[in-house]
Amino acid sequence: MASMSDVTKTDAWGKLAQIKDTFTPDLRGWFEADPNRAETYTRTAGDLHVDLSKNLVNQAVLEALVELADEVDLAGKRDAMLSGVHINNTEDRAVLHTALRRPRTDQLTVDGQDVVADVHATFDKVYAWADKVRSGEWKGVTGQPIKTVVNIGIGGSDLGPVMVYEALKPYKQEGLECRFVSNIDPSDVYEKTVDLDPTTTLFIVASKTFTTLETITNANMARAWLLDALEQGGAIDGSDASRTDAIAKHFVAVSTALDKVADFGIDPENAFGFWDWVGGRYSVDSAVGAAVVVAIGKENFEDFLAGFHAIDTHFAETPWRDNVPALMGLLNVWYVNFFKAQSHAVLPYAQYLHRFAAYLQQLTMESNGKGVKADGTPVTTETGEVFWGEPGTNGQHAFYQLIHQGTQLIPADFIAVATPHRPLKDGGQDVHELFLANFFAQTKALAFGKTADEVRADGVAEELVSAKVFQGNRPTTSIMAPALTPSVVGQLIALYEHITFTQGVVWGINSFDQWGVELGKVLAKQITPAIGGDAEALEAQDPSTKALIEYYRANRA
Ligand code: F6P
Repeated sequence: MASMSDVTKTDAWGKLAQIKDTFTPDLRGWFEADPNRAETYTRTAGDLHVDLSKNLVNQAVLEALVELADEVDLAGKRDAMLSGVHINNTEDRAVLHTALRRPRTDQLTVDGQDVVADVHATFDKVYAWADKVRSGEWKGVTGQPIKTVVNIGIGGSDLGPVMVYEALKPYKQEGLECRFVSNIDPSDVYEKTVDLDPTTTLFIVASKTFTTLETITNANMARAWLLDALEQGGAIDGSDASRTDAIAKHFVAVSTALDKVADFGIDPENAFGFWDWVGGRYSVDSAVGAAVVVAIGKENFEDFLAGFHAIDTHFAETPWRDNVPALMGLLNVWYVNFFKAQSHAVLPYAQYLHRFAAYLQQLTMESNGKGVKADGTPVTTETGEVFWGEPGTNGQHAFYQLIHQGTQLIPADFIAVATPHRPLKDGGQDVHELFLANFFAQTKALAFGKTADEVRADGVAEELVSAKVFQGNRPTTSIMAPALTPSVVGQLIALYEHITFTQGVVWGINSFDQWGVELGKVLAKQITPAIGGDAEALEAQDPSTKALIEYYRANRA
């Protein structure tokens, strides 16, 4: 690959550096001087109403960020991604999660294949299977319909499905429950299966590679649990034929490696494929979302996909000045590289989004936690801030102190919907309104703070004034939507996918590989025999690791 240019040498970067030299954030003053500031900096993408006005941005910053997008050729790189160019250069792969949500009527030929047709053929298979599970036509070995679907996967094969399942619980079919096993800690599979009836349980083994240690180990344990329990309960006689039949009725798989699925014993008829051009962390809108399809049904899942597509179209067609994912990504660059922000909080004021931050951690950090550019040379800027968060208002009583008064700048995205799924009241008080009051109050406090004079005006003793001052100018983006529908959940995910992409393009990195997770996997394989008592393997360890293994061996029960 030709060596890449250095983003810090662009004109726009120089302008941003110059602006930053004399930049005095003053959200109070800016709002006073411009009564239209909220309107000026509010954008719409799909159903998302995005207020950027409480960011540390003025027209000069905005102009320079847009110029930066042009200088790094964000448009060219975006179009290359959308058209199937192998932009994941270290794995020589196209990056086509956006093809997963293209309408059936579209066509996109990549490497000689119409990928949209492939995508919809697979979805049709998933929908037909899910319909059978939902209607009770799919039966376990004793003829009972399925009541619990257990998804076994990790990383992208877990975080997406579990987050979306939780986000869309109000759309779930009554009487059907999904559970998610991910951790190789055996307590995870134990706790998720201990109270289940094997005759009404169906496992989905989701693994792009079908080699991931955690998933294959958990799948083996689940298979053993199922077969033992069925045999003990007299549901099967334990013959090879009865076991094969039980696996066929209680296991399906999602993978790109269908040969390995067959080796595990799962009937290829019950396996849903996807493609190497779908990254694990970008795969919830592929067959990896099978558990979600079972829970919410085909129509809702199609609505979910349409939500992604609306934001893809917005990202593809909207000039940068109004392009929400691009602007949010560029603002993140502004904070990370010019304000040295090391983290970014995502704070959904929607309990159903309680796994959203965990999901975003993989999306953003596995994508942009890179120290070399796509051409292999070292990056010249900070990359990959830490994404984290919890739903409001829980976070308010935990870590908001640091966001309000800590020494680091922590940009934060606040997310809420206008119409809740559970419009409950406390006496005469609409509790959702109480909830939203907290969202609005927090973004207001972060932006405008409280001066020493205002604190004094409250009659606070002088020695306590400094502790009660809020500096303000803590940047936030407020994202609102009409309701947490399947489409809106898809829109939110696509929004963050394209924010992540934008940042990766500016930094010149390949956001679509994840070599950084490999070394630990290799070492775990080498260390396992040492833990089991292999003296030679133990001796090969460094002194700290060796001592830890010895501690384990001396103290295990
Ligand atoms: O180890 C990281 C990773 O490769 C993620 O990128 C991926 O989502 C996860 O493991 C699970 O991989 P698989 O779906 O192949 O089991």
